[in-house]
Amino acid sequence: MPARKLFVAGNWKMNPANVEAARALAAGVRDGVGTSAEVEVALGCPAVYLSAVSEVLSDSPIGLGGQNMYWAKDGAYTGEISASMLLDQGCTHVILGHSERRHGMGETDEQVNKKLKAALEAGLYPIVCLGETLEERESDRTEAVVAAQLQGSLAGLTPEEMNKVVLAYEPVWAIGTGKTASPEQAQAVHAFIRKKLGEAFGEKTAGLVKIQYGGSVKPDNALELLSCPDIDGALVGGACLKAADFLAIIEAGKKASASK
Ligand code: PGA
Repeated sequence: MPARKLFVAGNWKMNPANVEAARALAAGVRDGVGTSAEVEVALGCPAVYLSAVSEVLSDSPIGLGGQNMYWAKDGAYTGEISASMLLDQGCTHVILGHSERRHGMGETDEQVNKKLKAALEAGLYPIVCLGETLEERESDRTEAVVAAQLQGSLAGLTPEEMNKVVLAYEPVWAIGTGKTASPEQAQAVHAFIRKKLGEAFGEKTAGLVKIQYGGSVKPDNALELLSCPDIDGALVGGACLKAADFLAIIEAGKKASASK
């Protein structure tokens, strides 16, 4: 068993098309996972499906996550959803700072940080995403960008709080493009993130925090990626929309765990 239990999470994004399809997808994953606890699993679903998916997942070890939330507890924030609302719908997790929100909706590190603190205060386990664009990688700024995202997004957290946070390194150029970072490229950034966590929160916390890789993880590349020493799981987009593919990635996680 590795020091950090592998964690495979699905990010359904704005899919599937209706609640029946959402129930069916969740049921397929639930039935495939069974009671197995070798790899931690969670599904990040559109908010409107959370309650239905939560019912499907009751009696299963699979966690349930929102894909975003707002930091205020309640009030005049049209269209927003609070951490306690996510909890009320059966959520255990929430994905924060996904690149599609950072780059598509202009979400900043400061906003991610406020959401993160509100999620932790409410008792949700946050998955905080970060990663560089192609232009940033090509101009050799990957480490600087990732370091700045870590510093801004995690500002003010105590080591105890940080122990409850999962990070997802998702190079923007690899998300939904079919281009995966090579295991060497991903491992290098994961090791850099862990080094930065050590400087900010101490070695003990740095050794405990799970860092998922995300960006075109598929059944045929999952084992190589998940076998890297500092890759502790995957955040899966496209390939989590078919239960069989997602289950194959979880199986790869089990294999990788056995050899870590
Ligand atoms: P992808 O998405 O697996 O489709 O690249 C990953 C993500 O956005 O979390």
